[in-house]
Amino acid sequence: MDGHEKVLVIDFGGQYNQLIARRVREHNIYCEVVPYKTPIEKIKAENPKGIIFTGGPASVYLDSSPHISKEIFELGVPILGICYGAQLMVYTLGGVIGKANDNSLAEFGRTECDFDNSCALFNGLKERSVVWMSHNDYIEQLPEGFRAAAHSAKCPYGAIENPEKKFYATQFHPEVNHTEQGFEMLGKFLFDVCGCKGDWTMSSYAQTAIEEIRTKVGDGKVLLALSGGVDSSVACALLSKAVGNQLTCVFVDHGFMRKNEGDEVEKAFADWDVNFVRVNAGERFIAKLSGISEPEQKRKLIGEEFIRLFEEEAKKIGKVDFLVQGTIYPDVIESGTGDAAVIKSHHNVGGLPDYVDFKEIIEPLRLLFKDEVRKLGTELGLADYLVWRQPFPGPGLAIRIIGEITREKLSILQDADLIFREEIVNAGLDRDINQYFAVLTDMRSVGVMGDGRTYDYTLALRAVTTSDFMTADFARIPYDVLEKASVRIVNEVGHINRVCYDITSKPPATIEWE
Ligand code: XMP
Repeated sequence: MDGHEKVLVIDFGGQYNQLIARRVREHNIYCEVVPYKTPIEKIKAENPKGIIFTGGPASVYLDSSPHISKEIFELGVPILGICYGAQLMVYTLGGVIGKANDNSLAEFGRTECDFDNSCALFNGLKERSVVWMSHNDYIEQLPEGFRAAAHSAKCPYGAIENPEKKFYATQFHPEVNHTEQGFEMLGKFLFDVCGCKGDWTMSSYAQTAIEEIRTKVGDGKVLLALSGGVDSSVACALLSKAVGNQLTCVFVDHGFMRKNEGDEVEKAFADWDVNFVRVNAGERFIAKLSGISEPEQKRKLIGEEFIRLFEEEAKKIGKVDFLVQGTIYPDVIESGTGDAAVIKSHHNVGGLPDYVDFKEIIEPLRLLFKDEVRKLGTELGLADYLVWRQPFPGPGLAIRIIGEITREKLSILQDADLIFREEIVNAGLDRDINQYFAVLTDMRSVGVMGDGRTYDYTLALRAVTTSDFMTADFARIPYDVLEKASVRIVNEVGHINRVCYDITSKPPATIEWE
């Protein structure tokens, strides 16, 4: 983002690297995460207002651990080192890092810390509060020009500073919520030390992005695969403001949307200045999936059919110049680590470029975190329903019907899922639970209804809290809310006589059942 003040987060492999970047942005300051191997010239060319070193799992004394050139300390840019980043700063500038072999000086978890308020990081904050520690090694001897600025019972150098050079370092993690005044401390570094003003707002982002897109696209044709999810909807809104009806949105409705959802998506974009093409392909998909019950096969067939349909529509439009992708910043940061085992082959539009004839890709959200994408959507005037939509898998309800899919099962699940969602909203829990839905199992059991025997399906309810969807916990929904949902479902939806609540976390389970 040219023209905005920028902070660089140098990534040494810590588990909180993205969180640091998000916290900086929550202070309305644009920041980017860059690998520690980034050449100094490149860092310099970015003209950062400040630099933050993340934590990391390593010990500075290992040859294999990430190091950084001393030159970074000669750029005249303020630096904040966090945890491993703090130790690396000390080590690189000639101090000594001790190894807590006997664990006597290691600290993990919530720790009381005393701060020296004359240090710019803690100026005006409480003198004592809880911080989040997570370290084995510790700072033993300071480099020249540094002094202690905070300590805990075990750790004499909880934070250190060299105010003259504007180098600061904390052994604890200010970016996590468990550090009571952590957000304020980051703010002190960004505003008081680095002199940032906070010019990163979604309205300024929207303006700049719209201008950039206009310049890039000129009078070219743009194509976007709209799923109705948050990312593609916000991308659509942004492109619509930028290039109006030069944009064609293709919404392939595979028929596995939640109840009424296809119509809602269409309605949401009815007043926007775009060419909106809806392909109602429910029959085609259900025929394709007839007799298929293996989850991976379902996913693959849906993915392939989706691409085929999209391609057919694209051909009707003719050659397009630009294809829009809804890539967001966490995907950008995480890209390149492609050696993880395939648990589920995710269906999304990532594979489209091979199939569609186009000149260039536009990724208008590639700098944004999910919460920023939502803010941007609101800024652009998108309906709340779309902006706050919970994640929905590409293959839709097809992977929430265990076993073979039939029209009847689809309709049972749509009705039951709607009731569960309504009850979560009625209980005011919809923004606290990150994802909630119903799953139709292929198990039948005996029940009794109106004095008669039933032999019907078991429905599972799934609701999770998570920040990144990589790990998740089952949501602690009050029993009376579960009861209301259960009673309504067995009474209002035919062929369900038993409702279960899934109380597994991820891992070992996954969020979806297939
Ligand atoms: P799992 O089931 O792997 O899901 O724990 C993690 C998150 O990803 C969503 N999900 C998908 N999203 N295409 C998507 O775009 C897919 O094929 C897909 N499968 C799962 C899931 O809903 C959850 O939010």
